[in-house]
Amino acid sequence: MTRVRWVIGNWKQNLLRGPAEALAKRMVAEIPNQLLEADHRLRIGIAPTFLALDAVSPWTRPSGPLWLCAQDIAAQDQGAFTGEIGPEMLAEAGVKCAIIGHSERRNHYREPDILVGAKLHHALKAGFTCVLCVGEPLDVRNQNRHESYVISQLSNAFHQLENELCSERLIIAYEPVWAIGTGKTATPSQASAMHRTIRAWLLERFGPAGGDRSILYGGSVKPANAATLMAAGDIDGFLVGGASLDASKFLDIVHAAANG
Ligand code: PGA
Repeated sequence: MTRVRWVIGNWKQNLLRGPAEALAKRMVAEIPNQLLEADHRLRIGIAPTFLALDAVSPWTRPSGPLWLCAQDIAAQDQGAFTGEIGPEMLAEAGVKCAIIGHSERRNHYREPDILVGAKLHHALKAGFTCVLCVGEPLDVRNQNRHESYVISQLSNAFHQLENELCSERLIIAYEPVWAIGTGKTATPSQASAMHRTIRAWLLERFGPAGGDRSILYGGSVKPANAATLMAAGDIDGFLVGGASLDASKFLDIVHAAANG
C-alpha cells in the first residue's frame, strides 16, 4: 500500500483573520488542480489560530483542496473547562484534523503525556484525523537517548488506544525539539532513522495497520531541504511552521513531498 503523504502548515500564533484569509486564498489559487487530481494520496492542510478558522474555512474542504486543521483540541466535548475548545466545536467550524501534543504545548504549557494521550483518544473517537507530535530535546539527543525518549512518548500516548483507532486518520509527526524554529534541521539520515524506529514500534503495537501509518517530519523544513529529506526514505511529508507563512515556500515544499 502507498502511504498517504501530508504537508501541513502550522501557523501557530501568527496572522490575524484578514492576512490568514489572504494566505489561504493565495495558496488555493496556486495549488495546481492537476497536483491533487493526479495524486489521490497527497493531502495539504493548514492550521490557523482558532479565531481565524471561520475566515479560512471557505477555502478548505469539502469545496477546496486544503484540509482545515486545529493546532490543538480539548480532551472533552464541553463543560467547565475554561479556555478549552473541544471536538464538537471544532467540527462545527469545519475542522477535520487536529495537531496534538506539539512540543510547544508540551514545553511551554507543561502538557503531560497522559493529557496528550487523552486528547488523541477522544479526537480519534470523534472522527478527527490526528497528527500526534513526538520528538526529543537537544540534551536527550546528545546523551543518545532519543529513540527511547520518543518510544516512551508513543507508548504513553497510545496507552489505552483501541486497535481499531489505528487507521488512516492517525498520523505521527517526528519533530526534534532542537530543530523547531531554530533553522537547524535533522539530517536526512537522522530523520529517516527515527522514522524507521517509530514505524517498527507502531508495527509491533498495532500490527500491519500500524506499519502503514504516515510519519511526517517537522523542524525547520524549507524548500532547500524538503526534497533531500523526502529522498531519505520513510518520510511521508512534513509539518511546517515558519515556511508555511509564505505561500510560495509552502507550495515548493508541497511539490517536494508530491515528487518525493
Ligand atoms: P518550524 O516549525 O518549521 O518553524 O521549525 C515546525 C513545527 O513547529 O511544527
